Amino acid sequence: MTQDELKQAVARAAIDYVVKGEIIGVGTGSTANFFIDELAKIKDSIKGTVASSEATAARLAGHGIPVFDLNDVESIAVYIDGADEITASGAMIKGGGAALTREKIVASVSKQFVCIADGSKLVETLGAFPLPVEVVPMARAAVSRQLAALGGTPRLRLKAGTTEAFITDNGGEIIDVLGLKIADPVALEQQINQIVGVIAVGLFAVRGANVCLLGMPEGVRTLA
Ligand code: 5RP
Repeated sequence: MTQDELKQAVARAAIDYVVKGEIIGVGTGSTANFFIDELAKIKDSIKGTVASSEATAARLAGHGIPVFDLNDVESIAVYIDGADEITASGAMIKGGGAALTREKIVASVSKQFVCIADGSKLVETLGAFPLPVEVVPMARAAVSRQLAALGGTPRLRLKAGTTEAFITDNGGEIIDVLGLKIADPVALEQQINQIVGVIAVGLFAVRGANVCLLGMPEGVRTLA
């Protein structure tokens, strides 16, 4: 099976976690896109969605799926999203697609977080994937120095094919931190959250996934 077929398999399996008549939080990235395509098939059975990025909102709207502003929503039944790395206990690195801040916000108000990923994303220790940190642009250098002091190598994310900084949906910039071996994801998430100028860190450990659906060649494996 290709990686895309594994992503499609978990996207299909995630439909079992969609709560009928409710609002569903929808993540960002290629796996989330496969999920959106599956959700479109049952769109009449849900009240609508909250999107974690402009790209996801556009894809949902393209399928005719209602997209609500989070400010108009009281609760979200379930949040379904991919990950760049996930441990067996549900701690994740996210933000490879630069949507970490809105992903974290939507996840924080959702009753359940279902992570969907191909099996290659399962790791014992987080950190081989560079850790994304969204920052206020004027704090870029100051935050980078503090991230370097934590033992990582900070690298500003650039717009593809340019030397300009990539700008997020929130007007932030992304610093990708290489070379961190994250033994205690909860502690590091809390520590990076304390750095002034950080908008959000792509460690999802304080509030990790409740369920992870992993696409394996032999079928979908559920970690809960
Ligand atoms: C976007 C994310 C994505 O969930 C993560 O990058 C995984 O993406 P993909 O499903 O394309 O592998 O955090 O900010």
